[in-house]
Amino acid sequence: MIEEFHRVKRLPPYVFAEVNRLKAAARARGADIIDLGMGNPDMPTPQHIVDKLVDTVAKPRTNRYSASKGIPGLRKAQAAYYARRFGVKLNPETQVVATLGSKEGFANMAQAITAPGDVILVPSPTYPIHEFGFIISGAAIRHIPVVGPVAGAGSAQFAGADAETAFLRGIERAVKHSIPKPLAVVLSYPSNPTAMTVGLDFYTEVVQLAKKLDLIILSDLAYAEIYFQGPPPPSVLQVPGAFDITVEFTSLSKTYAMPGWRMGFAVGNERLIGALARVKSYLDYGAFTPVQVAATAALNGPQACVEEIRATYKSRRDCLVESFARAGWQVTPPPASMFAWAPIPEPYRDVGSVEFAKLLVEEADIAVAPGLGFGEYGEGFVRIALVENEHRIRQAARNIKKFLARSRDPLHNVIPIAREASR
Ligand SMILES: Cc1ncc(COP(=O)(O)O)c(C=O)c1O
Repeated sequence: MIEEFHRVKRLPPYVFAEVNRLKAAARARGADIIDLGMGNPDMPTPQHIVDKLVDTVAKPRTNRYSASKGIPGLRKAQAAYYARRFGVKLNPETQVVATLGSKEGFANMAQAITAPGDVILVPSPTYPIHEFGFIISGAAIRHIPVVGPVAGAGSAQFAGADAETAFLRGIERAVKHSIPKPLAVVLSYPSNPTAMTVGLDFYTEVVQLAKKLDLIILSDLAYAEIYFQGPPPPSVLQVPGAFDITVEFTSLSKTYAMPGWRMGFAVGNERLIGALARVKSYLDYGAFTPVQVAATAALNGPQACVEEIRATYKSRRDCLVESFARAGWQVTPPPASMFAWAPIPEPYRDVGSVEFAKLLVEEADIAVAPGLGFGEYGEGFVRIALVENEHRIRQAARNIKKFLARSRDPLHNVIPIAREASR
């Protein structure tokens, strides 16, 4: 058999695997690791949604193959959500497809629209499927950096209007210098991992630019409902004319704490949605019908649970920012998402995000995600997920404080420990 399969060869070893391996080893030794690594929501799914699932499972015929693009009531419920939340009108027949989580929808959209060698513009750092969904589909990726050099301080996150301008100019530059001309650009706000948010003015400019440059827009709005300050995140589909070129992905995973249920949506341009529906019709029979019925109940039912989930993330965020600052690690409060994007503290900046994350597991009993796992421009940062309760977050801060205090000890040399950790 050939040594390595063509597609598998294009998937690099998982950056998070090294940290995961150390985490598992530490746990096997009996360490109580505070896991702020994976963005895996820990809160229970609201009871009325679970009840709906249980009721539906008991009904006859719900065991049968379901509808690949989603049952009609579910697509209608998603259209109703877009209407009330964004003022965007969707035709549930032609402009909405239910997906097995937004990740599956994104990856199969990449399959549906990519010809081998097409160039796709992807922000860096970003959620890995934005890049690897297209790599698996045979595309070439051109990164648009969302960090930039800062005088005397290595690189840092662009902020506010600077970040928006840098991204728009990055698109122009990439199109000018790419052969073949890029097919699509990925947008993802609120961003995982940086938590950056944007407003409608930015989307208006992107839509204008993408139309001028003949680019498809794929917008990942997985954190639409997880926001803490400022106006709620908008949809790019609110921009007049965006429907001509845009598909947007949303998810129930974070909004209703339903990550394992695998329920998301793609909505927008009919041709693009049609292409996704066609590919999916060959690949799957849709989510289990009771999951689709319960997801419909989530979207159509009382929304107080969403406010509670949002409030829980917000108080965890405040707890993290405040307790980590007291421990000596300044973390910018994320305006949205369930992540803080934190620069590696000064004494460890040179060891890099993977070694630093490994050190935190070994020396502070804390797991975080190394920034490098989100792309080359993620180096210098770690992502801290708000997936443990406040008591555990405060414990993490105490561990950090001791860890940072040890690093000030002149007898303590960081580099040998980093080497040790990588063995
Ligand atoms: C930006 C972003 N998109 C998509 C996903 C995947 O979500 P889903 O569970 O809907 O596949 C995540 C999960 O962390 C995410 O952060």
